[in-house]
Amino acid sequence: MSSYVLPQPRVAIAFHSGYGHTAVLAEAVRRGAEKAGAHVALIPVDTITDEQWSELDAADALIFGTPTYMGGASAGFHAFAEATGGRFVDGTWADKIAAGFTNSASKSGDKLNTLTFLSAFAAQHRMIWVTLGLAPGWNALEASEHDLNRLGFWIGAGASTPQDGGIDTVHSSDIATAEHLGARVAERTAVFVAGRAALAGSADA
Ligand SMILES: Cc1cc2nc3c(=O)[nH]c(=O)nc-3n(C[C@H](O)[C@H](O)[C@H](O)COP(=O)(O)O)c2cc1C
Repeated sequence: MSSYVLPQPRVAIAFHSGYGHTAVLAEAVRRGAEKAGAHVALIPVDTITDEQWSELDAADALIFGTPTYMGGASAGFHAFAEATGGRFVDGTWADKIAAGFTNSASKSGDKLNTLTFLSAFAAQHRMIWVTLGLAPGWNALEASEHDLNRLGFWIGAGASTPQDGGIDTVHSSDIATAEHLGARVAERTAVFVAGRAALAGSADA
């Protein structure tokens, strides 16, 4: 049996949250990634510092999170996305792993549009998109709203929080689904980083 130890991947979560609900999910993504062995930086993009920009540039994987406002990503997230233009030109994030999550009030609420935008944003940066990797929950007679991936997204993680609820009303299934996304990205990134190191080593040999 191989005794090879996977390297610790560096994951950064770049998120916006106007009222705190998406921040609860960002924390869950962080927990999942840390439990899976990653070193994680949690970065609110509306107060991003130069040091945090450097953490994004140094990460192996970036996970983007935003509430869905008016059927798309929030203005706060778009301001961040537009501020990455120089990195887009330079290819600073090319070949990093990417993934995304969003949260809105309605069960659908046009969240798919937001996740599609996040994947296009990653593609523009020439990144490698990792999907949610879960079967859909809550879609059969015996299924329950407490299933993982209860809203049935594939491209990323989607959550639904009552528009008049506090941050304690973020659904436990959505929190668990966000944790799963963090863990999946950490695990896939570890394999990717190890593979790249192995190829570099064999090229040196
Ligand atoms: C300006 C604005 C636009 C919104 N647009 C949508 C929407 O298109 N679809 C939806 O389901 N919920 C929408 N909502 C509800 C938010 O997505 C929801 O309250 C979410 O939990 C907010 O996350 P946050 O606390 O991280 O900002 C909107 C809320 C605001 C303030």
